[in-house]
Amino acid sequence: MSSDAGAAPQPSLAGRCVVVTGAGGQLGRYLVHELQRAGAIVAAFGARPAVGIDVALDLADEPATIQAIDRAKPSIVIHAAACTDVDGIERDPERGERSNVQATRIVAKAARESGAYLLAVSTDMVFPGDGGAPYLEDAPTSPISAYGESKLRAEVAVLAGGAENAVARTAWLYGGAGKHFPRTVLTVLRDKGGIDVVDDEFGSPTFAPDLATALVKLAAARGRGRFHLVNTGRASRFELARETARLAGFDPAQVRPVSTAAFLARYPLPARRPADSTLRNVRGAALGIALRDWRQALAEYAPRLAAEIGAPAASGGHTGG
Ligand SMILES: NC(=O)c1ccc[n+]([C@@H]2O[C@H](COP(=O)([O-])OP(=O)(O)OC[C@H]3O[C@@H](n4cnc5c(N)ncnc54)[C@H](OP(=O)(O)O)[C@@H]3O)[C@@H](O)[C@H]2O)c1
Repeated sequence: MSSDAGAAPQPSLAGRCVVVTGAGGQLGRYLVHELQRAGAIVAAFGARPAVGIDVALDLADEPATIQAIDRAKPSIVIHAAACTDVDGIERDPERGERSNVQATRIVAKAARESGAYLLAVSTDMVFPGDGGAPYLEDAPTSPISAYGESKLRAEVAVLAGGAENAVARTAWLYGGAGKHFPRTVLTVLRDKGGIDVVDDEFGSPTFAPDLATALVKLAAARGRGRFHLVNTGRASRFELARETARLAGFDPAQVRPVSTAAFLARYPLPARRPADSTLRNVRGAALGIALRDWRQALAEYAPRLAAEIGAPAASGGHTGG
């Protein structure tokens, strides 16, 4: 659960009420944990009742959301909820409209009415990825998917809402119990013995606990405007998959490179992905909030994931490569 953020002292969140939306999701669970460690009083908002969820509601339900945030009386809202089904939104853009655009507008309104600082999480997919990477925080946006479009409109809703707001873009998140790319890679290697992964799509793999730590620091500092919070460095999907395989004790040669064009000819996907959406963190770093290199983060996580999957590293198998 670490990031190598600089030594700048951060204001304390002890005793502050913080609403976390999407608290049942991949990032949200780590956020709740990290905020509690910082001494905050967390109101965990989820889409449905579950252990660890204080308020279950659909954020696109305006009266319910306004009332719930008003009741919590937060000084900070961290909005991590979103519909993250990129291909599902491409098929049915209404899902992005509702859970990303409409819900964020409502959360922004509720935060404003409560006088709370709002930090909303966004994505590298607001960028086209066809040149210009690594993208800085003020680089021009131009999404190439309905998901990216919905998240960009959500950003606009947040930043138009007044001065006490921030958007933190992140990318290629992994960690936690749900579905994510390193887990898919190891599961396929375990079950099928090999996997083809595209070697011409580049980005910023980011370990969700590192992001949670950085977001909590940014919220404590009440950073304003746009931020890029990602693990440092650039990777292709292929490099990320090979490194995950190696660390988990598989033979890295079991991960085979393939071009996006060849992959899509075999497995068509509705949504286009940016070819290179690598993000660079300049504004966060200036506040002393920077995440470690992606390889370091993956090296910390991979043994745990290997144990969960039953990969060779968990039983002292192949670790070469
Ligand atoms: N995952 C990535 O690779 C990635 C990359 C870049 C940026 N991001 C951004 O990072 C943030 C966190 O992503 P994540 O990976 O933690 O996503 P996640 O695991 O899908 O979690 C998102 C949570 O939001 C909830 N949610 C969705 N619509 C809702 C609604 N209308 N009302 C209430 N709750 C709702 C979901 O509940 P249900 O699942 O029950 O619907 C889910 O628990 C999001 O803003 C995402 O856009 C993610």
